[in-house]
Amino acid sequence: MAHTQTLLEKRERLLGPGNPLFYEKPVHLVRGEGVWLFDADGQRYLDCYNNVPCVGHCHPRVVDRLCQQAKLLNTHTRYLHENILDYAEKLLSKFDASLDRVMLACTGSEANELALRVARFNTGGEGVICTNATYHGNTRAVAQLNSIFEPFEGYGDDIRMVPWPDAYRAPDGLQGEALADAYAGKVREAIESFDQAGIRFAGMIVCPIFANEGLPAIPPGYMQKAIGYVRDAGGLYIADEVQAGFGRTGNWWGHQVTGVVPDILTLGKPMGAGHPISGVVARGELIDHYRKHEMYFNTFGGNPVSCAVAEAVLDVIEDERLVENAASVGRYVFDGFRGLQEKHDIIGDVRGNGLFFGIYLVTDRRRKTPAPAETKRIVNRLREKHILMSNIGEHDNVLKLRPPLCFSTDNADQLIGTLDDVLSSLQEQV
Ligand SMILES: Cc1ncc(COP(=O)(O)O)c(C=O)c1O
Repeated sequence: MAHTQTLLEKRERLLGPGNPLFYEKPVHLVRGEGVWLFDADGQRYLDCYNNVPCVGHCHPRVVDRLCQQAKLLNTHTRYLHENILDYAEKLLSKFDASLDRVMLACTGSEANELALRVARFNTGGEGVICTNATYHGNTRAVAQLNSIFEPFEGYGDDIRMVPWPDAYRAPDGLQGEALADAYAGKVREAIESFDQAGIRFAGMIVCPIFANEGLPAIPPGYMQKAIGYVRDAGGLYIADEVQAGFGRTGNWWGHQVTGVVPDILTLGKPMGAGHPISGVVARGELIDHYRKHEMYFNTFGGNPVSCAVAEAVLDVIEDERLVENAASVGRYVFDGFRGLQEKHDIIGDVRGNGLFFGIYLVTDRRRKTPAPAETKRIVNRLREKHILMSNIGEHDNVLKLRPPLCFSTDNADQLIGTLDDVLSSLQEQV
């Protein structure tokens, strides 16, 4: 505890205020292995939160590839090297054939920044649509899309935020196709408002599973209709797969959940299982047109070490059948959460895609009133019981879980049992 206090003071003194930390009692982690994290006192935690180490913390095959290549050579992409080509070939083979080019960078923010530039250059437009409860990164252009944290510069004329599709708290009790029509209609209205303002439209960027919005059940047909409007108006669909990609949903890619193939998509977080590598994948003609006019070079993006690591991640996902594991264990966890919903009134809704879950907590089931204070208490209580997760959503009332893809049914039983205990003890206190 004394050491925790020293670290906290040092952070404040050296890094300044405003550096976010999880939990009322922060966790000081020193080691990771598979789905487990260990703190400085040797205590073990079940990691139900971290999607970046998608193949499990410190996977030996990934670490070995990193060390081997780091011992041999690390330069940049202005020299010929096989690693970037081997990786690009393997990566692109996982996508629809129309998505046949890749550009590499280091962070999700950079990838989204680049995707916006490619979209704006190709369409000649400026206007971009995003949702009204999201986060896409921290560069100046990308921060314009963030509604979770408003940028200090305010928002420019070239951004329109549309409501994210929410089948649980649907407006006017709408359902099914009518609900999809209502939400897609907001996209059409945003496009029209660009038109009226004399701003040429470039496209729409969304996470294909609306992860930061709280992982809602997407009304069937919504994406088809919304992207239909975008394309009819000459815009491009950018799917931000920074959270949704690499097997998380039980599919290789998040956009496969709704079946609408993007024009451009961005990758990050799990791509290097912790090593900073990100990318933009797009239809060849979009990237070729951009590259012919704009020089794109990224000192660290696509270097031999990053590509070796990223290739090892793809190999492990494939060899350990982690996409399939995400689908099957994901279903098991989802059913377990649905069981808890029957028992605990605080659970208003359970959302899930593969090994990505949102548990929507409410103080009143009938009114669907968000329960942010209770959600925070539960997250902290679970941390005390050595289960790590967090919360998200427009009202901060959605338990957010996305464990490493090697999560097992035994891990799931521990998670569900502990959550059950915490929810029961919370109820006893009320
Ligand atoms: C959907 C999404 N896109 C982009 C980013 C930004 O990625 P990075 O932090 O690597 O810049 C994030 C980060 O949380 C994200 O959730």
